[in-house]
Amino acid sequence: MPSARPMLKATFPTEVGNLLIRSHEHEDRRDLQALCERCEDYFELVTGRPVPGAEAQSLFSGLPPGKRYDDKFLLGTFRSTSLVGVVDVIRDWRSEGSWTLGLLLLDPTRGHGVGRAIVALLDSWMSAQGARLIRLGVAVRNARAINFWTRLGFKEVDQMETDNGLTLTMERPVTRAGL
Ligand SMILES: CC(C)(COP(=O)(O)OP(=O)(O)OC[C@H]1O[C@@H](n2cnc3c(N)ncnc32)[C@H](O)[C@@H]1OP(=O)(O)O)[C@@H](O)C(=O)NCCC(=O)NCCS
Repeated sequence: MPSARPMLKATFPTEVGNLLIRSHEHEDRRDLQALCERCEDYFELVTGRPVPGAEAQSLFSGLPPGKRYDDKFLLGTFRSTSLVGVVDVIRDWRSEGSWTLGLLLLDPTRGHGVGRAIVALLDSWMSAQGARLIRLGVAVRNARAINFWTRLGFKEVDQMETDNGLTLTMERPVTRAGL
C-alpha cells in the first residue's frame, strides 16, 4: 500500500537487550566513518584495501539502480550513545517482497550474539512490512560471515564475480521468529 510506505522509518528506534537500533542521521556520519575504521579487518579482508575515507558517505548515498531513498534503511546499533554497528537494508530489490541486506557490520567485539539478535529483529520488522525473503551477498573470502549466515538459516542460491572476488548470494524466507 504505497501511502503507508513513508511510515516505515518511524517503526524505529527499537531496543534489543541493551542495544538501541535507529535510523542513521546525517550527523552520525563521523561516528559511522569511525566505526568503519575500527572494522578495517573486514575491509582489508573483503576488498584488499584500507577503509575508504568517504566510506560513511558512500553508505549514506549507496542505492541500487532503480531504487529510491524511500526504499533504503541505514540503521545504526547503539550501546548507550556509542555506535557499535550498522546495517543497510533495501526494500523490494530485484523483486517485490525480497529485501536485501547491503551490509551488516559490527564493532570488532563480535561473537556475543549481537548479529543474531539484529537479524532476528530485522526479520520481524521486514516481515511486518510485507517482506517474504531476505537476501544478501557475501564474499567467498569472508568465510566467517558465510558461517554466520549459514547458522542463521541462509542458503546459497547463486554465485557471481564482483570487485570483491567470488561472491555468494544467500537468502532465507522471513520467519517472524527470526530463528
Ligand atoms: C558477521 C557478523 C555480523 C556476525 O555478528 P556476531 O555478533 O559476531 O555473530 P553472533 O555472535 O550473533 O553469532 C551468530 C551465530 O553465527 C556464528 N558465528 C558468528 N561468528 C562466527 C565466526 N567467526 N565463525 C563461525 N561462526 C560464527 C556463531 O557461532 C553463532 O551461532 P550460534 O548462535 O548458533 O552459536 C559480525 O561478526 C561482523 O560484523 N563481522 C564483520 C563484518 C562482516 O563480515 N559482515 C557480514 C558481511 S556479508
